[in-house]
Amino acid sequence: MAHKIPHTLSDAAAAKECENPLPPDGIDAIAPIQVTRSAVPDASEYAAYLAQIFSSGHLTNHGPFVDRLETALKTRLSVPHLALCANGTLALQIALRASGLTGKKVITTPFSYVATVSALLWEGCTPVFADIDEETLCLYPHAVSEKITPDVAGVLPVHIYGNACDVDAFGTMAKDAHLTLIYDGAQCFGSAYKGQSVLNYGDYATCSFHATKIFHTVEGGGVVAHSPEAMEALTLLRAFGHHGDVHYRLGINAKLSELHAAMGLALLDGVESRIAARAKVRDAYDAYLPPLGLRRPALRNDLKYNHAYYPVIFDDEKTLLCVVERLNAKNIFSRRYFYPALNTLPYLKETQPCPVAESVSRRVLCLPLYPGLEDANIERIADIVKNCLS
Ligand SMILES: Cc1ncc(COP(=O)(O)O)c(C=O)c1O
Repeated sequence: MAHKIPHTLSDAAAAKECENPLPPDGIDAIAPIQVTRSAVPDASEYAAYLAQIFSSGHLTNHGPFVDRLETALKTRLSVPHLALCANGTLALQIALRASGLTGKKVITTPFSYVATVSALLWEGCTPVFADIDEETLCLYPHAVSEKITPDVAGVLPVHIYGNACDVDAFGTMAKDAHLTLIYDGAQCFGSAYKGQSVLNYGDYATCSFHATKIFHTVEGGGVVAHSPEAMEALTLLRAFGHHGDVHYRLGINAKLSELHAAMGLALLDGVESRIAARAKVRDAYDAYLPPLGLRRPALRNDLKYNHAYYPVIFDDEKTLLCVVERLNAKNIFSRRYFYPALNTLPYLKETQPCPVAESVSRRVLCLPLYPGLEDANIERIADIVKNCLS
C-alpha cells in the first residue's frame, strides 16, 4: 500500500479554474440524470400485494410478507439467519447491541457512508480508524492489525461499493485476537466472493435495502447472523425488547412494515437482470473513458460483482471539481461517494489521521449508473470527464 498523497484542494471554488472550455455538444438541456435511479416494480404486481394487505389489515408487526421476504432472502443468499429491519443504520445498531459491542472500542474504516460511523457513535462505541488499501479502497488488514490493543473489542469493515473486503484476512485476525467481526454490507447485495454471498462472512453482516440499492424495500435493511441465539437477540432488539407481556431487554423499534416487505417481494425476481443491465453500463463507460488520468478501484479476485457504483479516482481534487461542475451544468449529477473521510468528521472527539482515505476521498467521484442509462448519455458524460483531464 503506497501512501502517496497527491495535491489536493479544499475549496470547491477551485473548480472555477477549469482551463479547457467545454466544446458545444449541440444539446443544451436534457432531463436531469441522477447518479442512480430507483428500481420500481410493475405497478400491477405491487398493487396485488397491496390488495392482500388491505384485505387482511395486517400492516406491520412482523406480518406474513416480512416472513416471506425473510425466507426468500435467506434462501437466495444461502445465509443461516436474517433479521429484516427498518433500515441499514438500525441494522448496524442492533448488530452492535446483539454482539455486545455497544460502548466499546471498534476498529473501522474512514472510507464509507457516514452511517457506518454514526451507528458506532450512536451505540456509544469509540471508533478507532485504520486506513484503507489504496487499490480496493476497503479497510486494510495490516493497518487494522496495528490498531489492535487489549481494549479493542471488535472490527467493522465495509464492503465498499459492493467490493468484498479481505474477508480471509479479517476472519483469521478476528479469531486470533478474539474480536467480534461485523461487516457493513449495506452496498453489497448481489455480490459473491468464492461462490458465497458476501453477506455470509463475519459474525454479523448488515445490509441496507434503501431505494438507491441494488435490491430495495424503499427503506429497509437486515442483519445476517450465524446462531439461533444471535437471531433471537436481534428479533428482540428490533421490537422493543419484549415478547407479549414479558420484557427481556432494552429494545428499539426497527421493524419493517408489510408495505415495505411487499415492495421487496415485487422486486426480488428482477435483481439478476438489473445487475446485468448495470454491467452493460459499466462496459460502456470502460470503453469511452481514457486509460490515463483516472483510476478505478480494484475488485477482489474471485468476486462476482453487483455493479452497485461506477467510481473513478482522479489524480487531484481540482480535476474532480471541474468534472462535477461541468456535469452539473449539463443537468448531470454525479456524487462524491465518499467524501469527506469519516475520521475528519467535525463531531469526533479526537483526530486520527488516515492519509490514504483522506486523499482518495477528495479525489473519487461516482458517475451515474443505473439500468437503461442511454449509451449516448454515457458517451457525453465520458466526453466531459475526458475534457477536464486534458
Ligand atoms: C456503507 C453504508 N452503511 C450504512 C448505510 C445506511 O443504510 P440506510 O440508508 O438503509 O440506513 C448505507 C446507506 O447508504 C451505506 O452505504
